[in-house]
Amino acid sequence: MFREEVAPTVRSSVIPEQFRAFVAEKADDGVTRGTRDVRRADLPGGEGSSGERVAAGEVEIRVEWSSINYKDALATTASGKVARISPLIPGIDLAGEVVAGDEPSLAPGSRVLAHGYDLGVARHGGWAQYARVPAAWIVPLPDGLDARLAMALGTAGFTAALSVIRLEARGLRPGNGPVLVTGASGGVGSTAVGILAARGYEVWGATGKRDEEGRLRSLGAAGFVPRGEYTGAPERALDRERWAAAVDSVGGASLPYVLRTLRYGGAVAASGNAGGAGFATTVFPFILRGVALIGIDSAYLSIDERREVWRRLATDLRPRGLGEGLTDVSLESLEPSIDAMLRGAARGRWIVRIVGTAPT
Ligand SMILES: NC(=O)c1ccc[n+]([C@@H]2O[C@H](COP(=O)([O-])OP(=O)(O)OC[C@H]3O[C@@H](n4cnc5c(N)ncnc54)[C@H](OP(=O)(O)O)[C@@H]3O)[C@@H](O)[C@H]2O)c1
Repeated sequence: MFREEVAPTVRSSVIPEQFRAFVAEKADDGVTRGTRDVRRADLPGGEGSSGERVAAGEVEIRVEWSSINYKDALATTASGKVARISPLIPGIDLAGEVVAGDEPSLAPGSRVLAHGYDLGVARHGGWAQYARVPAAWIVPLPDGLDARLAMALGTAGFTAALSVIRLEARGLRPGNGPVLVTGASGGVGSTAVGILAARGYEVWGATGKRDEEGRLRSLGAAGFVPRGEYTGAPERALDRERWAAAVDSVGGASLPYVLRTLRYGGAVAASGNAGGAGFATTVFPFILRGVALIGIDSAYLSIDERREVWRRLATDLRPRGLGEGLTDVSLESLEPSIDAMLRGAARGRWIVRIVGTAPT
C-alpha cells in the first residue's frame, strides 16, 4: 500500500497587506525612485490573490537592517545594467527575523541574513520592511554578529573575506610581504584592510581620498598609494615588484597597476569595477612573474560555502574596527547616499535602518 503524499505545509503570511519600501522603477526619461507603500501581493514567494500564504520553501523575514552596496546604487539607475525587473525593491543585503515559512530549521524567531543570488536584482530585496526569500538562500546569523553588525559587513564585507580566503588558499601568509587594497576607503576596500590587518598582514591602501588615511590607519593600514600613482598611464609593462598580493574592487582604473607591480608569484583577487570595467594589460605579469588573477563572485557562491564564510567573518576573519564609522541611513534618506556612492565618494559602509520605519 502506498502512503498518501502529504502536501508541504503552507503557512499563513504575517506580512501586512501593505508595507513601506524603497522602489526604483523605469520611466521614459530614466528611473523614478523613492519610498512608497508596496502590496504584499507584489512580493514573490506568496500564494493567493493577496499573497496571504507563504509558498513552499519560502521564508518571510521582518527586515531590521540592510545596507548600500555599489551594486545597489547601480540598481537605481537607468544605465546601471543591474536591475532585471521593474519596479524593483533594491537591497542585495538584508538581516532580521524570520516571521513565517515552512522550513523547520528556520522557525519564526530565527535571526538570519541573506544576500546575493537574485536579491535586489531580479527579485525584491532588502530595502523594505518585509521580504520573502527562498530558505535555500538564508544564512542563520552566526554567534557574535547581530543584524546591524551583519549589515555593517554585508556583501562588501563578505566579498572582502572571500578575497582573503582565495588568496590564502593560494598560499598567501602574513610573512610573504605587503598586501595592497585598492578602493581602500570603500566598502569592500575598508573591510579588506580591517580583515588583513587583524590577521597580521602589512596592508597598504590605494585610495583617492587623502582625508580617509587617518580612518584607514586606525583599521590597520601601514601605508598608502595615492590614486594618481596607480591610475596614470604606465611607462613600462612591468614595474618594481612591491606586493605579495592585492584585493582589488576598482577594476579598470587600478588592475593594470596591480598586475605590473605584484611580486613574483603574487596574486590579485579581483571583485569589482568601481573605476571601470575594461582594462588594458600585457601578458608579461603572467608569463614573466607567474602572477595570478583570481575572480571573486559573491552572488552565486553555494549556500554551504556562504554560511562558512559568515562563520569565519564572525571569528577569525572579523575585521578590525567592525561596527565603527558607519553611516546609518533610513529608507527615507537613501537618495543622497546612493548618489554619493555613484560619484565614488563612498567612505566605509552605509547601513540602512529599517527597524523603526513608520508603518503605512
Ligand atoms: N564580485 C562581487 O561579488 C562583488 C561584491 C561586492 C562588490 N563588488 C564590486 O566591488 C566594487 C566596490 O564595491 P563597494 O560596495 O566597495 O563600493 P564603494 O563602497 O562605492 O567603494 C568603491 C571605492 O572605489 C574607489 N573608486 C571609485 N571610483 C573610482 C575611480 N574612478 N577610480 C579609482 N578608484 C575609484 C573609491 O575608493 P578610494 O577613493 O579609496 O580610491 C570608492 O570608495 C563595485 O564595483 C562592486 O560592484 C563586487
